[in-house]
Amino acid sequence: MTAKNTTFKDTRMNTIGLLRDHLLRGLQVCCAVLLGFALLAATPAMAGSRERLSLDSGWLFHLGDVAEPPIKGHGMSYGTAKSGNATGAAATDFDDSAWRRLDLPHDWVVEGPFDKNENASQGYRPRGIAWYRRYFQLQATDRGRHVELQFDAIATHSTVWVNGIVVNRNWSGYNGRSIDVTPYLRYGEDVNTIAVRVDAQAQEGWWYEGAGMYRHAWLVKRDALHIATDGLHANPVQEGGRWTLPVTVDVASSAKVAREGVLEVALLDPEGREVARGNTRVRVDPLKSSTAQLKLAVKKPRLWSLEQPNVYRVRAVLRDGTAEIDRTDVQTGFRSMRFDADRGFYLNGQPVKLHGVAIHQDHAGVGVAVPESIWEFRLRQLKSMGVNTIRFAHNAPAAEVLDMTDRLGLLVMDENRNFNPSPDYMQQLTWLVRRDRNHPSVMLWLLFNEETLQGTEVGYEMARRMSAAVKGLDTTRPVSAAMHDGIFGDINVTQAVDVAGINYQIWAYDRFHKLNPKLPMLSTEDTSAYMTRGAFTTDQKAQVLNSYDEEPSSWGATHRQAWRAIAERPFMAGAAVWTGLDYRGEPTPYEWPSVNSFFGAMDLCAFPKTAYWIHQSHWIKNRPIVKVVPHWNWAGREGLAVKVMVATNAPRVRLLLNGKVVGESDVDPIDMVSFQVPYAPGRLEAVALRNGSELARDAVETTGPPARLVLTPDRAALAGDGLDAVPVKVSVVDAQGSPVPTADAHVRFEVDGVGTLIGVGNGDPNAHDSEKAPERKLFNGLAQVILQTRRGGQGALTLHATSPGLESAVVAMDVKAVTPPPAVAAAEPFAKVGGWRISPPQATRPDPTIAPGHGDMNSWGWGEPPIKQELESQAWRAYRASFAVRDDRNDGRGRIVFREIVGRAEVWLDGVQLGVKNDPAPGPLTVSLPRGAGWRTLTVLVQSFADQPSGLIGRVLVERGTP
Ligand code: GAL
Repeated sequence: MTAKNTTFKDTRMNTIGLLRDHLLRGLQVCCAVLLGFALLAATPAMAGSRERLSLDSGWLFHLGDVAEPPIKGHGMSYGTAKSGNATGAAATDFDDSAWRRLDLPHDWVVEGPFDKNENASQGYRPRGIAWYRRYFQLQATDRGRHVELQFDAIATHSTVWVNGIVVNRNWSGYNGRSIDVTPYLRYGEDVNTIAVRVDAQAQEGWWYEGAGMYRHAWLVKRDALHIATDGLHANPVQEGGRWTLPVTVDVASSAKVAREGVLEVALLDPEGREVARGNTRVRVDPLKSSTAQLKLAVKKPRLWSLEQPNVYRVRAVLRDGTAEIDRTDVQTGFRSMRFDADRGFYLNGQPVKLHGVAIHQDHAGVGVAVPESIWEFRLRQLKSMGVNTIRFAHNAPAAEVLDMTDRLGLLVMDENRNFNPSPDYMQQLTWLVRRDRNHPSVMLWLLFNEETLQGTEVGYEMARRMSAAVKGLDTTRPVSAAMHDGIFGDINVTQAVDVAGINYQIWAYDRFHKLNPKLPMLSTEDTSAYMTRGAFTTDQKAQVLNSYDEEPSSWGATHRQAWRAIAERPFMAGAAVWTGLDYRGEPTPYEWPSVNSFFGAMDLCAFPKTAYWIHQSHWIKNRPIVKVVPHWNWAGREGLAVKVMVATNAPRVRLLLNGKVVGESDVDPIDMVSFQVPYAPGRLEAVALRNGSELARDAVETTGPPARLVLTPDRAALAGDGLDAVPVKVSVVDAQGSPVPTADAHVRFEVDGVGTLIGVGNGDPNAHDSEKAPERKLFNGLAQVILQTRRGGQGALTLHATSPGLESAVVAMDVKAVTPPPAVAAAEPFAKVGGWRISPPQATRPDPTIAPGHGDMNSWGWGEPPIKQELESQAWRAYRASFAVRDDRNDGRGRIVFREIVGRAEVWLDGVQLGVKNDPAPGPLTVSLPRGAGWRTLTVLVQSFADQPSGLIGRVLVERGTP
């Protein structure tokens, strides 16, 4: 080796190596694209229906940022400026072999520790930056189809690369996006790489937002001519007593020629029977879209209501000739809605007072990565509280959650996160409306929550534009905004919306209504009162607040005061109690060590607090409600008065202690009724009465010491799809089997069978225990374990609970075999050696250290296998490439596989000969790859023989060795 060569080699990392990494990637893409065109010409566009494939499994995750190599020098600057040449962790060949493998949905914040130096609003947990990567393959027959990558939400700022090309940037943690990745894809053996950088140092809220890919990811394959994402709009309208279903369908095409299709639209009733249909032709020019319109007449549909949520489906099928090429369907429902400025809200012509709650989207154990079945559990809990309206504060919920509110009969205030009509943000708003405008449950669009510009001309002008954008997509629902001030300003946002949404400000209800008699009003937020679940004595030092509904915030009211102000005013359409469920962050009125909110009518596990029963008593009319609090374990307080509160919808209550009447009273239907009862152990019973007859009763009983653990799953049968999750209540009973409300046992859990534990919680706002460890202390008698089934699982899923000194518990759930939703398999990274430089022909065998001169971009060629030299006058060429070996192939057992070489060949790595191919006929060669650090230089000397071409005809791969 000459001194010149050594110098060259020393500088290779700075020049040629970086050039390889950055400049040549552009050429690789070029070659791939050219090859793609060649194959495309040979393969007819694939017809076939839509495939919506889960991309949830098999992601690689790295917590923390990955520094990009600094860009220096002309070669690297030039190279990194080219499409496809992303560097660092966004690069196609980045070594992620040490990254953690996980499945979505994933919230990394909930996995982390609590830290009092972190932001209280976000729940005192580190957020930070992280990366996700995922590999997948496509069949050659997918070529020509339209392929979209869909992320339902990523918190918070995210950038997405596909095959080293940046394809999307998004600055909200709450909106989904559909990314057309068709042009960037590789097919067949080649592997596609997705890289996602998530910056969760960014925050959008003052509550716990979680971080990462916390909703689902999808790969959607469609015909080149296809129904656009969220492109089916079908919202029934009633005209002169008759129902019609106007349908619009956006059809898009990525084909190279104009295409025509027939759209068939059918309406299916709740049993899936077709009850109306229509069709129309559609023609779409290449890379354009068209909107088809139809109107279906519908005879006597069954109405959607809170009691009978009849959900219809609208199905659109796109055909090319007779062949179906795409299909989609949406949920819809037949219902009329209107707000009246004097009388509130009407559903199907009947007045409905909105029994609303606002909620955030995190749950115990899982953070914001909430499985659908846990959402359903949360919504069922709310419905059982008498809730009929949910405000998803302050952002769009997951799509699946709105399918549930449709089915469960819950109305929804659908809220936009960012108040900003500039293009990026307007797109977040229009995305929300396009996605959600078919749902019968969605009753109102909220443009914002509590914006300081709300009472200004600027705020008014902004809201006017946003409202107009909503109306451009949906004229059937009113637009509102949740305002906590500014509503009396000369120019303010109430003038730009259809319904005034008032946060708190009870004092303003009458005045505003008087000044704006034509503007309907509702509470978009009220209450904000504190309770610790299961606690009945306030202890400021311990940061515990009693559950008698005595602790309103300074800007709010108790649950009872807030509801009275709304219940007594017919013009107030309804309530939105802050909040239905506790959430992490915003531990107001406290700070550390409190880490989650005290506002919920239920705690973070959705275990009821007293507010739950108070609202049941306010809101449920069709069955008797009676609940007596507190618990009756007050050892040491014998003879002392204990406050007893009875929540009931009955007009009168009798209270018995150990069978003796200790009180009887009429009940105020809003304030409920309270007694002072001198404590004596035993049984305290509340009997709900009407006209002297018993309607129902409830009792609390003094218990003995904790004796036995009890596990109560929310459901006994689960689906083995890897998605279904179940909350299991953990409690303790005494020797007689009575639940011990003060139990605080530390419980350990073990799971066997076809599932895993994905989180634990107990609803204590002051606890700092891990939410992922298989153990938890009970808090005021309760804890919760969340189990999730395994994909493809069938059989028992068993939870064991043990705690020192207590009889242990075991419960088995029955996991049924189901066909898991179709998914894209995670591929292995495809470690190609690329970026080859090709020497000019040489008359004699070159030295294996031969290399282009420094800065020589010309005399040596550039290439990517297949590289084939036709008949040459001089027999030898050197092929040279630099590459870094992934860690998982750098253990001395890895190998370099030459799929096909023509000619005689010698393989050299960093100056050491690894192998020889003596037979000049086309054939493979595999050499073992010795361990080594950093950049490696691979040189192949190829000798052609008379009349024969030569070269690297097949791919060169670095493969894992067999152990
Ligand atoms: C409101 C706000 C909510 C929450 C609540 C706490 O002003 O809209 O997001 O912060 O106060 O009381």
